[in-house]
Amino acid sequence: MTYCSTPGKVIIFGEHAVLYGEPAIAVAINRRFHCDITESNRDITTVNGYPLARRYHSYIVECLNKLEVEDELEIKTETELASGTGMGSSAAITVAILGALRKLLGEDLSEETIAKDAFSVEFDVQGNASPIDTSTSTHGKAIMVSEKKEKNFLWKIEREGRIWNIHHRDIPDLTFVVGNTGVHSPTPPLVEKVRKFYERSNFAKEIIDDIGEIVEESYILLKEDDLEGLGELMDKNHGLLSILGVSHPKLESLVKGARKYSYGAKLTGAGGGGSMIALTDRPEEVAKEIKKRGGKPYILKSTERGISYEGKDHD
Ligand code: MEV
Repeated sequence: MTYCSTPGKVIIFGEHAVLYGEPAIAVAINRRFHCDITESNRDITTVNGYPLARRYHSYIVECLNKLEVEDELEIKTETELASGTGMGSSAAITVAILGALRKLLGEDLSEETIAKDAFSVEFDVQGNASPIDTSTSTHGKAIMVSEKKEKNFLWKIEREGRIWNIHHRDIPDLTFVVGNTGVHSPTPPLVEKVRKFYERSNFAKEIIDDIGEIVEESYILLKEDDLEGLGELMDKNHGLLSILGVSHPKLESLVKGARKYSYGAKLTGAGGGGSMIALTDRPEEVAKEIKKRGGKPYILKSTERGISYEGKDHD
């Protein structure tokens, strides 16, 4: 039996713009996805006792195809990352399944190999994606993705003429509250909506450029632990994402409420519903306000831990 667990992530700056050559930063969080994989003595592969089916297990099916696994397996999963909450559940599933499969098959377990395969699986399932979620779930800590290669470079990922250089970032310990709107909002249609806007409008291109500038401004603030400065940039980044058309009235309400007790707040991930994130040292008050406004709060901390093969008790 092989066990693997991976952290979720939150994007603190640069979602959507990262698909157009701009940089972005994501932080691994202390909520994880866990899986156990064993060879099965039955003639079908099962996931938590149910037959593997593309309709329900698209990421797992693609992981098995990627590694050309033909044996029947018994896969057990457990998650602390509700899907559609902007906490990177699909990336965490993909990275953990690939890690456990590689361990079972006795293959290379380098972070780079796993992160590259995980990106390719996520891209194939979603139709378009950047490697930020999958690289963060693999490496843990914080990841900065950019077109240019900079200090603390980890690996390079290329796809369809686009290049993403993946970098490690040192960050202070951060506390966040994620507020889930409860509005289900899959990523691909939002990515497509922004793409259409980007392709027909110079204004959208300027907004994407402005988001890139915010990400660059954040580097020094993260280094200096300047939470007030970071919060201001989060507010600005949120405003630009709203102009791109990926906010939602419920997101606006949660962001507004959270800001009363936070350094700053913004939507996180694809938007359109989904979740917002607040940077705060008053997490209980933010959580209460989010609940009052009909959202579901999750108090989170940044974590150093990326992919791990140590037992669940260790997590
Ligand atoms: C989704 O978590 C973030 C997006 O930028 C898409 C991606 O980077 O794959 C919207």
